[in-house]
Amino acid sequence: MRTLAIESSCDETAAAVVENGTKILSSVLASSSDIHQKTGGVIPEVAAREQVGYIIPVVQEALQENKLETIDALAVTVGPGLIGSLLVGVETTKALAFTWNKPIVPINHLVAHLYANWLDTSHKSPNTKHQSPLFPALCLVVSGGHTDMVLMQNHGKLKYLGGTRDDAAGECFDKTARLLGLAAYYGGPAIAAAANKFRMNNVQCIIKLPRPMMNSNNLEMSFSGLKTAVLREVEKLKTTKQLNDETINYLAYEIQEAITDVLVLKVIKAAGIYKPRTILLAGGVAANQRLREKLSLDIGHLSLDIKLLIPPPKLCTDNASYIASCAYFNYHPIPWSKITADPSLTIV
Ligand code: KG4
Ligand code: ZN
Repeated sequence: MRTLAIESSCDETAAAVVENGTKILSSVLASSSDIHQKTGGVIPEVAAREQVGYIIPVVQEALQENKLETIDALAVTVGPGLIGSLLVGVETTKALAFTWNKPIVPINHLVAHLYANWLDTSHKSPNTKHQSPLFPALCLVVSGGHTDMVLMQNHGKLKYLGGTRDDAAGECFDKTARLLGLAAYYGGPAIAAAANKFRMNNVQCIIKLPRPMMNSNNLEMSFSGLKTAVLREVEKLKTTKQLNDETINYLAYEIQEAITDVLVLKVIKAAGIYKPRTILLAGGVAANQRLREKLSLDIGHLSLDIKLLIPPPKLCTDNASYIASCAYFNYHPIPWSKITADPSLTIV
């Protein structure tokens, strides 16, 4: 079965064709992030207008090597996200479903992130064999707007375990990167790069940031206090004229350590309680190398037979291939006229 999926929840416009939920036949992405870098964040109306310009060429390109007759179903992200952006993908897919007379599956972007773990990319690295997730799977979705932990008993059977009470982990990376002047928008990779410079220089870290709720007796998290602590440190360094490349790299390192310490500890805590067969990491922050290495190290230390699965970094950040995969494994088409965008959709 071949699915053509469309994703337009924020500032990326993406389309992909995936076979049987696992094999990517094409995946195309256009992004307006350069524009948002200039304005220091996404302006929803601007993002939506860019989506309108990109959507048809992106779909056309995704279909270039996959004839329309071979497409069995369409899938589209209906939420959560920015309403203007979502509407572009949703209304376009509805129009295509009507015109082409194809079934259409509405998809939750947060659940779909997890399906990056079902995509088989082993042909790209000959010595690796793809391992499909086994249930029950403990899942952590860490994206720009959400940080959620769920237990997946089967496809479509998700139980919410915990998550952030305020800012998402990605949001914390983004906002602190802005405070440090490292990136105006989409700061995770910038924090990671600055933190690596600090690690390479191997200097002693003199600034210690809080790990909010790390030791709370539940699976809840909080990241807004961390952002405030960084703001305070930056102001202190500015008044003493010590805000320079070295102290910025220090802070970036500590931010990355603080965020990843909390995420890893909560996953390990949940693993001890629920004893899953696999742990799935997903969402843009899952591309973070430090998170990947810390989590695999700590899971290795557990005396439990649990396999950690993390998609390749390119499949962690937004794209349409995992939307298609999610639609294949949760194939519930509904009439196109009943599909609406829902910006505030939650993971369960
Ligand atoms: O899942 P995603 O692509 O979009 C949303 O659905 O939100 O996640 C984007 C988030 C941003 O906050 C971005 O800064 C973060 O993922 N991110 C990273 C890295 N790459 C992307 N955070 C830390 N380290 C990275 N390497
Ligand atoms: Zn996302």
